[in-house]
Amino acid sequence: MNIQITRLSNTLGAEITGVDLNTYDDATFEEINAAYLEHQVLCIRDQNLDPESLVTFSERFGVVEPHDNLKFTLAQQPKILVLSNDVDEDGNQIGVIDAGDAWHTDHSFKTHPANCTILYSLKNPSQGGVTDFTNMYAAYDALSDDMKARIANLRGRHSISKLKNKRVQISGAREDAVEFYKRQEKAIPDVDHPLVRTHPVTGRKSLYCSPRFTVGIVGLDEDEGDALLDELIAHSIKPEFRYSHHWRDSDVVMWDNRCVNHRATGGYEYPDIRHLYRTTVEGGPTG
Ligand code: SIN
Repeated sequence: MNIQITRLSNTLGAEITGVDLNTYDDATFEEINAAYLEHQVLCIRDQNLDPESLVTFSERFGVVEPHDNLKFTLAQQPKILVLSNDVDEDGNQIGVIDAGDAWHTDHSFKTHPANCTILYSLKNPSQGGVTDFTNMYAAYDALSDDMKARIANLRGRHSISKLKNKRVQISGAREDAVEFYKRQEKAIPDVDHPLVRTHPVTGRKSLYCSPRFTVGIVGLDEDEGDALLDELIAHSIKPEFRYSHHWRDSDVVMWDNRCVNHRATGGYEYPDIRHLYRTTVEGGPTG
């Protein structure tokens, strides 16, 4: 194989060509893994994967998590979640339409948030469907020394519930949203994570908070916590830290949730179809 790795922006992201994820060898995997750790977001072009091959590739990075949303897992491979605005012959939705429309890092509402997320694009709409990424190492590095000292030992509180979060709105596409989030609140208690997270492999520090899941700062009153969070969130999404991925069919895009925030930007409508498979790899403690 003639693997080629090319940067996609000045801050994060790289494109990989010349690899077939059905047949790569261990040395090629090591190159992919090194590129993943260096560039934080990888786009591996021109893949033709069946569900088993996608899961097998994902499992090279760790244990693939079961999905909470059983309604939209793939019937023949429940480790895959379907993201789609398509419908079946009876007009029923076949996938999650509005996953991840606010900036976030995956599963930070868990004690052990996700390590990486992998999306495989089967069909892209004629417009929209872009995924934005932001480099949380770079965001941390660019903070003033005073801010770094202020947040060094602070912890953010993370919640799955949109009902507890003034920075996000509940999607109109989810009819049962209030009941859904009430059930989720009971099932998944809020957790705390350091605002400054040290990556377990690279040893680099990153800012670890997001408007979607961080709802407060432990030990600060609501006003002070909100003001600090607003400042850190606004800083983290400055243009110089960002890369926007314009998908092609057959892209496999993976990102490192330990140092990257992302969001889906929408901008397409049925019958213009966006259809992807998603796997999520379990992570460890955040410190
Ligand atoms: C996600 O946040 O998992 C979805 C991202 C996307 O659909 O672009």
